[in-house]
Amino acid sequence: MRFKIILPLLALASVLLAAETNQPAPVPSAPAAQIQRGKYLVENVAMCATCHTPRTEQGDYDRTQWLQGNLLDFKPDHLMPFAAVAPPIAGMPGYNDAQALKFLETGIDLTGKPAMYPMPQFRFNHDDALAVLAYLRSLKR
Ligand code: HEC
Repeated sequence: MRFKIILPLLALASVLLAAETNQPAPVPSAPAAQIQRGKYLVENVAMCATCHTPRTEQGDYDRTQWLQGNLLDFKPDHLMPFAAVAPPIAGMPGYNDAQALKFLETGIDLTGKPAMYPMPQFRFNHDDALAVLAYLRSLKR
């Protein structure tokens, strides 16, 4: 009787585990120093929060929504391609490590093209891209 419950559960667990290990290796074991450097690059150099974090009524970043995506509160004053929404980047969802590094190092996204303005086409060197990714992955989605 008990096996009737346990065996399917074991089977399910192994399927889930297999699915888990098929994922491209994330950067979970990134050294603290690498995450710290990524945080510095994101927060103090590339200023990703300018667009990817909503602001409070005082105009400060809403830290409870850090890099969780944002409806931009500015737009060009003439007609041109423009993305009004900056998606969530905490955790770097939707991108495996190779895709994320390519995006950070070349500006080319999953569609094989650059993201729309005003997303900058960053050209991080490999070490900096690794650090930025390690930091973004360390954040909760
Ligand atoms: C000046 C505003 C701005 C800044 C600064 C900015 N972004 Fe963006 N980002 C955007 C907008 C707007 C989009 C949506 C673009 C689109 O829809 O094509 C976007 C899209 C993205 C995407 C999804 C791209 C795709 O096409 O799949 C990622 C990933 C991303 N940004 C990461 C970052 C990171 C990491 C930083 C800092 C290192 C950063 N962004 C800084 C505005 C910005």
